Amino acid sequence: MLDPRAGDLAGPGRNMPKVTYVEFNGTAHTVDVAVGTSVMRGAVDNNIPGIDADCGGECACATCHVYVAAAWLPKVGLPAAGSQEASMLSFAAVAQPDSRLSCQITMTQELDGLLVRMPEGQH
Ligand code: FES
Repeated sequence: MLDPRAGDLAGPGRNMPKVTYVEFNGTAHTVDVAVGTSVMRGAVDNNIPGIDADCGGECACATCHVYVAAAWLPKVGLPAAGSQEASMLSFAAVAQPDSRLSCQITMTQELDGLLVRMPEGQH
């Protein structure tokens, strides 16, 4: 029998991938995030503090800003130069080279175990 939490996109026999979100104070939250869902949505749907997502995922607020753990950067990638995401991040006060807007990261099975940290000021 299929695990109803797996969702159609995860496919039968595959476990829902997990994401760990680490608040600025160090509190970690590990939750299931369905394939095809944004990393922002995974946080909001699980009431994780630190990702407000004021614009609802339209890449227009930067309140979903996260730092991607170094080991995951090659898989997650950086925003394309000249993209709206890169533009929004250029206005973020605490942007770093590993910054992403989590609404622009779409979950895949390959991102199972992804770890992101929230910047100071987002809590
Ligand atoms: S939710 Fe607003 S930029 Fe990501």
